Amino acid sequence: MQRKTYTFSEKKTIYYFNAEFSLLDQLVDPVKTVIVTDENIFNAHWRKLKGWKTIVLQPGEENKIQSTVDSIIQQLIDFGADRKTYLLGLGGGVVTDITGYAASIYMRGIKFGFVPVSLLAMVDASIGGKNGIDVGPYKNLAGTIRQPEFLIYDSSFLKSLPQAEWVNGFAEIIKHACIKDARLFKELEENSIKVYKNDKDALSKLVQKNAMIKSKVVMADEFEQGERKLLNFGHTWGHVIETNYSLPHGHAVSIGIAMACRISEQLTGFKQTKRVTDLLEEYGLPVEMEVNKKMVFEVLKMDKKKVNTSMNYVLLNDIGKAVIKSIPLEKLEVLVNNN
Ligand SMILES: NC(=O)c1ccc[n+]([C@@H]2O[C@H](COP(=O)([O-])OP(=O)(O)OC[C@H]3O[C@@H](n4cnc5c(N)ncnc54)[C@H](O)[C@@H]3O)[C@@H](O)[C@H]2O)c1
Repeated sequence: MQRKTYTFSEKKTIYYFNAEFSLLDQLVDPVKTVIVTDENIFNAHWRKLKGWKTIVLQPGEENKIQSTVDSIIQQLIDFGADRKTYLLGLGGGVVTDITGYAASIYMRGIKFGFVPVSLLAMVDASIGGKNGIDVGPYKNLAGTIRQPEFLIYDSSFLKSLPQAEWVNGFAEIIKHACIKDARLFKELEENSIKVYKNDKDALSKLVQKNAMIKSKVVMADEFEQGERKLLNFGHTWGHVIETNYSLPHGHAVSIGIAMACRISEQLTGFKQTKRVTDLLEEYGLPVEMEVNKKMVFEVLKMDKKKVNTSMNYVLLNDIGKAVIKSIPLEKLEVLVNNN
């Protein structure tokens, strides 16, 4: 096991890499702890949860909503939870987002920790303190920024992760490589999902490296004034097509990354779009999709990254070197139509 501490503005979060779930016994008092998980994870791993008070949610993004938070709060009341109760989110990004949010508001805030068990939650969603829920068509509209006390990484949970979710997780890993780490990009080119699935050591190094990339970006800019915006690479276009065409998050981000690369070619002189799209495809991700560009652009204009009549778009100068460019909306519309 490797223990690392990252310091955020409000607290230190301890990451236990290469750890086992049983470590939890030493970190929290089981009597004062409630675990939140979802049905898929509970069905696959219920033996590990024997003896723990557990709240089991319906899986899926469609349940990352206020009524699920209300039901968590009601079950906490039923368990007699008080200010000393610890909430533990054991799950993918939906569970960790909603657990962090419920913990932030129950009795004005109780402590919480995460055991991320999807690849995406391990390298991205459980890190950085953004917790929240969707409201109608708006993703992550209501939420808080509050850091967990600890993260436990136990790769044995990944045995039950569906193949499609491995692919989704790799979209964020490739994103990290594109914006921050050319060496990681090369490593990914030399390997494949199959290699990582069969090599526990390579997988845990990959997970740790990506958790560190995200943590460092967040530490540098916890409240998203600058550096943290780089994590939105591929997400501007991605979010719009994800919502409007019901695509899996990783697929939408992948198509968004390809679009951002093509726009980069015209605005920064970036020349490696093919290398990026080849890598995405190698990991089972789509890079193109027929969309109604006019409609998508109309929705895009509502994005949080719009400032007056321009949009802050994350582009690449090179692999491993991202940059934020303010693009006037009329120019962006032309770029989108031509790409
Ligand atoms: N807070 C953040 O900074 C942040 C960052 C990125 C993404 N997110 C959020 O994360 C969510 C996506 O996360 P996700 O892809 O993990 O989605 P998810 O939690 O919905 O998990 C995907 C599916 O895989 C199943 N699953 C997960 N782990 C499993 C396991 N070990 N065994 C068997 N089944 C398993 C889940 O039940 C679900 O059906 C989105 O809501 C997104 O907004 C948050």
